Amino acid sequence: MNISAQRAVELLKDGNVVAVPTETVYGLAGDALNPSAIAKIFEVKNRPADNPLICHFHSVNQVKDFVTEIPATTLTLMQHFSPGPISFMLDLPENSSLKFATCGSAQVIVRIPDHPVFLEIIKNLNRPVAAPSANTSGRVSPTSAEMVEKDLGEKIEGIVNGGVSQIGIESTIVDARNENEIFILRRGAIGENEIQKILPEAKIISEKLSDQQTTPGTKYRHYSPATPVFLINDVDELPTEKNTALLVTEEQLNDLREAVSRKFITTEIHFIDLGSITDLDMLAKHFYRNLSSLDQLGVSNAFFLKNDWGDSSLGKALQSRIEKIVSH
Ligand code: TXA
Ligand code: MG
Repeated sequence: MNISAQRAVELLKDGNVVAVPTETVYGLAGDALNPSAIAKIFEVKNRPADNPLICHFHSVNQVKDFVTEIPATTLTLMQHFSPGPISFMLDLPENSSLKFATCGSAQVIVRIPDHPVFLEIIKNLNRPVAAPSANTSGRVSPTSAEMVEKDLGEKIEGIVNGGVSQIGIESTIVDARNENEIFILRRGAIGENEIQKILPEAKIISEKLSDQQTTPGTKYRHYSPATPVFLINDVDELPTEKNTALLVTEEQLNDLREAVSRKFITTEIHFIDLGSITDLDMLAKHFYRNLSSLDQLGVSNAFFLKNDWGDSSLGKALQSRIEKIVSH
């Protein structure tokens, strides 16, 4: 059910959870300081109880009230990229009121979202808002009110419809507490390239983090549709039984139609055109909608065809999402 931003604030004040739009993906929002609202988020998503929630703020000043400090490097990045599709790991003081949202962790991941409606909601609530992606745990993140309705509509008090999310994949998560080394814990639209421009001297680490480091999204299975999805290097690896789907870029589709139709009757394969590699912004924006459309096709499995996603931050973020989506 769609509700207004004003109604959302009332519901949040009463400890309810509602879905809200952000520029990355829709969030399942609850008052970050209210333990019963936090419990509801976990229940609605069926989220493992030890998987902490990102907390959303309307300004850098509001963040300052909840963390031990904002280290200089983090502040520089925040001032440059926030509000925007980037989240920062920061230290909490002892006995922090955010400890329920962070599942007892001494760190919180904070984000100032770039969506006017969500920012207004946070300002009017005047408290931080915990909001993981508004999907059942393990499923694809929603990028429209319709996608949230289909997955969680029955379980929540309402959805604030703020249109299709502009970015389409979750925020970059950065640990920039230490000025010498900046860790990218989850890739997103803002990446090494953009960060290095602001901090030319910094060492940015985004590959092969050690097990000791908290790497969001690696502990739990993420981002998968219900249909099993695999990665193949070549169309020859497609199974010969029918009822399958192939997820390809527009360029791959053009290259392949002929080769595939020689081996199969094309109508037996559902092609999902992810969009052109020359417009990754658009491709990312529709990526999760395309993925979730798989579950409506009634296919028994689906395949990504290996692709070079390039060196842009968004290309690398899409590559890392695909690695997590595919079954091994
Ligand atoms: O774009 C986004 O970041 C979206 C929108 C709604 O803001 N939110 C989002 O939240 O993607 P979620 O919960 O789906 O993903 C957050 C990731 C999870 O993998 C979680 O384990 C990790 O961040 N995380 C959150 N708080 C953490 C903490 N205190 N320490 C370590 N990891 C944390
Ligand atoms: Mg999520």
